[in-house]
Amino acid sequence: LPGERVRPKRLLESMRYATLGGGKRFRPFLVVESASLFGVPRERSLMAGAALECIHCYSLVHDDLPAMDNDDLRRGRPTTHKKFDQATAILAGDSLLTLAFDIASRVETHPDPAIRAALVIALARASGLGGMAGGQMLDLAAEGRFGDAARLGLADVEELQAMKTGALLRFGCLAGAILGEAKEGERQALDRFGAIVGEAFQIADDLLDVEGDPATVGKATGKDAGAHKATTVSILGVERAKQKLFGLVAEAETTLAPFGARAGILKAAARFVAERRA
Ligand code: IPE
Ligand code: IPE
Ligand code: MG
Ligand code: MG
Ligand code: MG
Repeated sequence: LPGERVRPKRLLESMRYATLGGGKRFRPFLVVESASLFGVPRERSLMAGAALECIHCYSLVHDDLPAMDNDDLRRGRPTTHKKFDQATAILAGDSLLTLAFDIASRVETHPDPAIRAALVIALARASGLGGMAGGQMLDLAAEGRFGDAARLGLADVEELQAMKTGALLRFGCLAGAILGEAKEGERQALDRFGAIVGEAFQIADDLLDVEGDPATVGKATGKDAGAHKATTVSILGVERAKQKLFGLVAEAETTLAPFGARAGILKAAARFVAERRA
């Protein structure tokens, strides 16, 4: 993100606030680690990771808006619309979304334009109608906003979570394979790994909403139950949701078999997703 000299200063400040103030940076971590399996230079995978983190942070800024989850706290600080105002937060999200594609398209991300185009298409699909944004729409339905949430079964919740959360984490792993020009089997293994980690990530988030400590997670808890929202946890209960979560971690580790010992850090990342407290 450019420094002080860029106008409008307030918009730039809100974009910096939304992206640079903490957060686990787990999605860029996945890009860097999956790309490193193929020896991709770190400067390139960091570019793709930064593009993905811009989309993620934009999704959080909009997710927190009063029209959506109406949250005041994020990463232990006021949400972007609380720190600034709603109009600024909407525009910060819009500008981060477009900045992501600016970054992904730059020659520093990969010298081959065909690879950059592949990256851009995959990021667009993970972010839009069939991915995060579409999943966020279905997520509102899971709160009963556009009908009866009680009609949603486990398969519906799995589908919406694969879209709202899974798609971006999956892209993180796929990006490594795209940048690394992976063979088809390796690409598929990383794609599968990303999908499983994505599913696990949202179940862990929903468990933290029930059992987490707001001071540690840095955001309000108890929101899903308050909204009578259909989640894996509300449908299965805490114990069965945890069993499912740890089953997914084991499955994620198995999908990395083609990479042998080189995938040790990605395996640890899958375990981190299930054990995280924030
Ligand atoms: C929160 O994502 C939103 C979900 C998809 C569950 P993270 O837990 O990765 O949020 P930060 O970036 O670390 O704050
Ligand atoms: C948000 O899910 C997923 C996004 C795509 C932003 P949540 O609404 O559960 O995320 P938190 O709990 O606010 O971080
Ligand atoms: Mg939400
Ligand atoms: Mg939310
Ligand atoms: Mg949540």
